[in-house]
Amino acid sequence: MVRNGLIAVAVLFTQQAFAQDCQLTTKTSCESFINSKADSFPNVNFRDIREDVEQCNGNAQFEANCGTCVQKLYRFAGEQIKYGRGGSRAYGMGMTKPNNQYLAEQEDTTRYPAGMMKIPEELISIENESMTGTVTSAAYWEMFRTDFVSEKWQALEAKGWKRLVYYSRTVPNPPFSSMRRLLFFVPGDSYDRWIQFTLPDVTRNREANEQLVDFIAVQKKAVDGTRLAETQLHFRQYTRRYNAGILSQIDLRSGTGDKCYSCHPGGMRPLSPEVASVMSTDQLNVLDFFNETMKSYGKQGWAGGLNVEDHGPALGKDVGCTRCHGKGKERGPITWSFLNYAKIMGINSTLHKMTQDLSMPPDMTTVAFKESLRKLSHQNLPADEWEQMFKSITSSSNQYSRFEAGILEAHSRNLLSTAQKDSFIKHIKEMVSAGRKTYEVLDAGAAKEVRDWLKDDVSCGPAGN
Ligand code: HEC
Ligand code: HEC
Repeated sequence: MVRNGLIAVAVLFTQQAFAQDCQLTTKTSCESFINSKADSFPNVNFRDIREDVEQCNGNAQFEANCGTCVQKLYRFAGEQIKYGRGGSRAYGMGMTKPNNQYLAEQEDTTRYPAGMMKIPEELISIENESMTGTVTSAAYWEMFRTDFVSEKWQALEAKGWKRLVYYSRTVPNPPFSSMRRLLFFVPGDSYDRWIQFTLPDVTRNREANEQLVDFIAVQKKAVDGTRLAETQLHFRQYTRRYNAGILSQIDLRSGTGDKCYSCHPGGMRPLSPEVASVMSTDQLNVLDFFNETMKSYGKQGWAGGLNVEDHGPALGKDVGCTRCHGKGKERGPITWSFLNYAKIMGINSTLHKMTQDLSMPPDMTTVAFKESLRKLSHQNLPADEWEQMFKSITSSSNQYSRFEAGILEAHSRNLLSTAQKDSFIKHIKEMVSAGRKTYEVLDAGAAKEVRDWLKDDVSCGPAGN
């Protein structure tokens, strides 16, 4: 009792002290506060920045001399707390609003088309039919493959629904780190739904009941039916539960700590699945269709769920990324939150795109490579045979391991000479190392880009007081 009493007094006392403790009452003090935090970045305590500003709330001099000027730093600090270590669980999805508010608003039918965030009933019943018996490993996997021909599914396919089973190369999904996916595409007039079930990872022989369902709704029309100028994305996750092998329930995963933005900074992510994980020609066609459809959405917005401007400047100016990644550009910016959180998570999308996918920046990597491959090899081969070869090497995905496998196979079938094979393999290795170097330049310069951005235009007005 005595201890609690003492703590209460101490808390009261410090609160009072804070109220009088605003250090940001003049333009000069405000500017030097911002500049000194910027200069120390990234070695700053974002919570301290937030507190220093918040304890000025209500102070008239602060409002007049610093309130607007400090906003960029203040808001950036707020996002960095979410995207740093030990961020708050309530903001686990890394959106501007806490998870529960973000998720609730998606279902507000005065703002968004009805049913947009729902998993369609038909899909659950199809799932159920495919999953009678034990929901585990190899047998389960087989079932998904054979079920592609079921009558019920065909009826849905006639409405434009599609589905793809593939193996991700980058993202192990909770809780068992499986990379296997079953991705459904459910098209609609006002919105398309992309619904992704994590499947048990047969390659690791896991007997696991996977639970995760990742969900993106791509909103194309407003509630009143007018077409949106920019498609808007809505993210969420579901979990699924089974009862005696039957899918018994799907629940919203409101407490998720997965930050969609940390891997989806530009919205939909084209698929580049693990080599040979897409199992048939039909499925390869679906893969192409998916990637084309995602591309066709053009630039995608966050439906107010996230303010990209608060996450820092568009990085990678010196290495050419801002030609395409930035405000008003075709793709969302590479920001500090995105780059930094990738390291915390241990799944670095940028490094991956530049040294494994070999898809970024596009002109330096696969586009150029595919062209040179086409020119070089065409010389010695019958055109139709080469076209087929070329397609099998490069179709559907950009990954270099696929190129390499294709080139080795072409060589083994005497389609490429040893000299050609060696020159292609050398070319691939050079691209990988060029990608790594570019990434390192980007990474090394990023903090300075943020510092400059924070200090850019820091002028709280003519210093009068
Ligand atoms: C660790 C990185 C990462 C995180 C975090 C992440 N995703 Fe993804 N997501 C990807 C990648 C990469 C793909 C493309 C497929 C692949 O290669 O795995 C993808 C694909 C998807 C797809 C299929 C459609 C598409 O864009 O390709 C959906 C749906 C999806 N994610 C939803 C979500 C939701 C919802 C969240 C947040 C709760 C989320 N993702 C968080 C990396 C991530
Ligand atoms: C010519 C335009 C262009 C340039 C230049 C470019 N990108 Fe991209 N970037 C894209 C497009 C289009 C996508 C989506 C397609 C894809 O993922 O391949 C993308 C996707 C990405 C992604 C995946 C996240 C996302 O937005 O979906 C990363 C990471 C990325 N780029 C990094 C970079 C980096 C780093 C650079 C500079 C070294 C760069 N890009 C330069 C056009 C470009």
